[in-house]
Amino acid sequence: MMNFHILTLFPEMVMQGLNTSIIGRAVEREYISIEAVNIRDYTLDKHGKVDDYTYGGGAGMLMQAQPVYDACMAVQDKIAARNTDGKKVRVIYVTPQGKTFRQEMAKEFAEEEDLIILCGHYEGIDERVLEEVVTDYVSIGDYVLTGGELPAMVMVDAIARLVPGVLHNSDSAVTESFYDGLLEYPQYSRPELWRDKKVPEILLSGDHAKVDAWRLEQSIERTKKLRPDLYEAYIAKNPCI
Ligand code: ADE
Repeated sequence: MMNFHILTLFPEMVMQGLNTSIIGRAVEREYISIEAVNIRDYTLDKHGKVDDYTYGGGAGMLMQAQPVYDACMAVQDKIAARNTDGKKVRVIYVTPQGKTFRQEMAKEFAEEEDLIILCGHYEGIDERVLEEVVTDYVSIGDYVLTGGELPAMVMVDAIARLVPGVLHNSDSAVTESFYDGLLEYPQYSRPELWRDKKVPEILLSGDHAKVDAWRLEQSIERTKKLRPDLYEAYIAKNPCI
């Protein structure tokens, strides 16, 4: 069982986005757990304030160190009370300044038992608390979003599907390693003929070896055409192909 802890000012947004379909079912079946911790619950400000103006001026508000720190410590303490191994829990801050999230990184994070994901909002978070608690800075791509909630959801989805049991199809992990680094081959369902378009004959042949060979070939062709960067990496790793 893998446990995700998401520190955010918008817990409903995160929980609503992750309670459906495969991830929702994985939570129900206890392959994973997801908790959204409201940073506002930890502010010591009597009006519930969590942000303030930036020193040095400039537009926008910044999330203050105290509520973020206390929320993070509360989660760390809860994990420590359950886990006696004393292993350091990774705290990911989602930010455009981080290392770009990739499948390899998802695989690495999927090995963890607990993962804390910190979502910023407004103009960001006071640097001092980041220095104090964050172990990994991660970006989901070169564009700027209004907050870390969507990136956190993207990461939870990509990581959770790698946790054993979450995906039904037991050979999806096997095919994935075989096709590792390649784009998906084209797929077809009924009917056999649709708008004068036929399903490729080989897929109806029942010859599984031939089907597999065709799919790999399609994957390679597609990758070569659409993502030459991935194709080069694949060829370097699989010179026999
Ligand atoms: N917060 C705002 N934009 C982001 C991005 N692209 N990746 C991660 N966190 C972000």
